[in-house]
Amino acid sequence: MSNYKKNDMPTLLVTGGAGFIGANFVIQVRNSKWANIVNLDKLTYASNLQNLAKLQDDPNYYFIRGDINNSELVSYLLEEYQPDALINFAAETHVDSSIISPRNFIHTNVVGTFELLEASKAYWQKLTSPRKEKFRFLHISTDEVYGSLSSTDPGFREDTPYAPNSPYSASKAAADHLVRSYYHTYNLPTLTTNCSNNYGPMQFPEKLIPLTILNALNGKSLPIYGDGRNIRDWLYVKDHCDAICLVLIEGCTGETYNICGINEQTNLVVVEKICAILDELAPQDNFQYSSLITFIKDRPGHDHRYAIDCSKISRNLGWKPKENFDSGLLKTVQWYLNNSAWVDSVCTGTYQSWIKQNYGTR
Ligand code: NAD
Ligand code: TYD
Repeated sequence: MSNYKKNDMPTLLVTGGAGFIGANFVIQVRNSKWANIVNLDKLTYASNLQNLAKLQDDPNYYFIRGDINNSELVSYLLEEYQPDALINFAAETHVDSSIISPRNFIHTNVVGTFELLEASKAYWQKLTSPRKEKFRFLHISTDEVYGSLSSTDPGFREDTPYAPNSPYSASKAAADHLVRSYYHTYNLPTLTTNCSNNYGPMQFPEKLIPLTILNALNGKSLPIYGDGRNIRDWLYVKDHCDAICLVLIEGCTGETYNICGINEQTNLVVVEKICAILDELAPQDNFQYSSLITFIKDRPGHDHRYAIDCSKISRNLGWKPKENFDSGLLKTVQWYLNNSAWVDSVCTGTYQSWIKQNYGTR
């Protein structure tokens, strides 16, 4: 996985490492013993420290509860741990939440990224050769910054103009622009990845796939916005984490890389596939899970289709996704079935209030 020498294990300052993708990344990196990890996470509702419980005795993993907007704390962590890279996963990430209350999205996704850039610039400027040349600021972003495609448009390329449509995607787009500007203005060695919808273990059940699995297991309706024909490209989270490592090690500074699942599906098909898996793994005597599917009022400004052209990362870095959707979805459903304690711990009062707020009036 790495071109670093064994006795030269890099240290990564990861933000948002207690969330879905961040936790999968941290665990993958520590399992491979490729890098030391310092994880800064505010522990919002979307995080879960249980995700990282297996690392509690790992001497090369450090957790710090804190906000990326706390510039003093970020500067202190950079000085104290002397990381070789900062990887920014921390964000508010749910489109529906951004429609109901966008303020946190601006605060964390835009201002928080700015604070990380400022602190990283100050730290990086003081580094000396060869560590200065090696340092990277890797910003994790989304395909949603490019807006929405018609059914026949080609996929988003790295040079597709930004056209965000939700407060979430607008806040991520703003952050991406700031990252770009720190490369061009200050030469800070930045990299940005824009990837498609992730799925896999440990995703908070506000997003389509885990929400569908858990609602189905509880015999609740499976809400599909509009007519269910919106299309997303789905990427298994472990493939995404591999791509992030590769971009970090081999990516060209100042560049952005689109990361895809090569797997476009309508929302209806995704939900039907989950139902079919559950009919096999957790069959019910008196009904099939697909009978729970319910079409509800659409999301305002709902993007029709996301699709990614990931030929750049494939051509330049030799990456392509390994997991296919059917096997990835099966692993995901199995994970939720096998981790009922995790599920119980996230389905708290706050989660129930969100379900009422988002679905109660639809
Ligand atoms: P998530 O919502 O599961 O986790 C986000 C994490 O960030 C949580 O642990 C949370 O506590 C932390 N966080 C939030 N605000 C913070 C702050 N101010 N300071 C420190 N920590 C804070 O998100 P995710 O799905 O793991 O996404 C990670 C990144 O990947 C995000 O930047 C997101 O935009 C991007 N992304 C996600 C997807 C997807 O499908 N999930 C797709 C493309 C890109
Ligand atoms: P989501 O998982 O929220 O990701 P994103 O909005 O970032 O793509 O939603 C994926 C798709 O599923 C999106 O088109 C909205 C749709 N959706 C539903 O139909 N019902 C739901 O309950 C949710 C949460 C999403």
